[in-house]
Amino acid sequence: MRSQVVIIGGGPSGLLLGQLLHRKGIDAVVLERKTRDYVLGRIRAGVLETGFVNLMREAGVAERMDAESIVHDGTVIAYGEDQFRVDFVEATGESVLVYGQTELTRDLYDAREACGAETLFNVDNVVINGADSDAPYVTFTHEGTEKRIDCDFIAGCDGFHGVSRQTIPLTVRKEYEKVYPFGWLGLLSDTPPVHEELIYSNSERGFALCSQRSWTRSRYYIQCSLSDHAEDWSDQMFWDELRRRLPAETAETLVTGPSIEKSIAPLRSFVTEPMRWGRLFLCGDAAHIVPPTGAKGLNTAASDIHYLYHGLMQFYEEKDSEGIDRYSEKALARIWKAERFSWNTTMMLHRFPDMNGFDLKMQRADLEFLRDNHDAQKVFATNYVGLPF
Ligand code: FAD
Ligand code: DHB
Repeated sequence: MRSQVVIIGGGPSGLLLGQLLHRKGIDAVVLERKTRDYVLGRIRAGVLETGFVNLMREAGVAERMDAESIVHDGTVIAYGEDQFRVDFVEATGESVLVYGQTELTRDLYDAREACGAETLFNVDNVVINGADSDAPYVTFTHEGTEKRIDCDFIAGCDGFHGVSRQTIPLTVRKEYEKVYPFGWLGLLSDTPPVHEELIYSNSERGFALCSQRSWTRSRYYIQCSLSDHAEDWSDQMFWDELRRRLPAETAETLVTGPSIEKSIAPLRSFVTEPMRWGRLFLCGDAAHIVPPTGAKGLNTAASDIHYLYHGLMQFYEEKDSEGIDRYSEKALARIWKAERFSWNTTMMLHRFPDMNGFDLKMQRADLEFLRDNHDAQKVFATNYVGLPF
């Protein structure tokens, strides 16, 4: 087999890149380790920046997103019984969209099927060969047979636990990591959201987030211990704990119901450099992870895809390698800023096990400065709605 580009990983990064390339007549095979249903069963991100939204439009897969997503012009930040709102539109002129990762992944799979682009599911033993040569190829097992695809380029979109990053030799690769001493327990339920906008809450019992997927579907998170297991948290325990972490007047209006999904995600900041090795390009979670506070995870994938897509177009249409040569540098410049915002917001809103009185006062000063200072709100909003690509 031969394809101009091999995309490893059928998550949002790989699918979005595949769709953009397809529209330009560049062929790309997607290799996915799991099944389509498994990928669609993972409940993850929910907030999209304008940059992501524009790429979905450019890829021609925005119809349902434009019809069903909810525009959010601001967010609420609560601490104890106090709360304030950051108005994104007033501060930056931009807003964000609430549209679940599951939904946009479904739209991308549907579009891929409709245009006949090839996706191989249940692939195993993916090995990247000759990435630092002019003739790279990928080998893998599919339906019991060994296969090989020769290609021009490989896009490593296979998430944090994929093979792509590991293919880059340790003499070339440098990794930066911070692991946080807690996780987020998330619950999805078919209940109306407690508030029309998201509420990020710093309480003395730990962080909580009230998010949503639609007017009738809510997504809530509470900071939990890394030793907790989702199955040990009954729905009742979750709702009780969430209520305790919200201002009383909000807690009183919370509508509860049975969970559809409950899971724990650890919090981590991680960046690998460089994001290119020869003809292999890392995109999305394969190259970087942010703690979810601030909703940057999926959105950082979008800027990688933007830079790689434009670099590949420039290569194929103008025979110019400038875009792909500068891919790593451009992608990393934006990622480090999203890392900073996610880290900063995580520090401002969570309870750390070793916090002392001074640390608590600093956190409160951070929150009150943001509440009272228009410029600080502008900085927060500029980061939240997303830095330009
Ligand atoms: P992924 O979505 O991880 O996709 C990678 C794909 O590659 C997967 O389908 C995987 O099966 C496949 N794959 C892996 N290895 C191989 C292989 N060897 N061969 C072939 N295929 C392979 N972000 C937010 O903004 N908000 C959130 O609330 C949020 N919650 C999250 C919760 C969890 C548990 C996790 C893990 C992430 C969360 N994120 C969140 C981050 C966000 O979901 C990711 O940034 C986003 O999924 C990145 O997309 P991706 O396509 O780069 O990687
Ligand atoms: C969601 C997740 C986030 O990390 C966040 O900051 C906002 C929303 C969500 O899953 O809806």
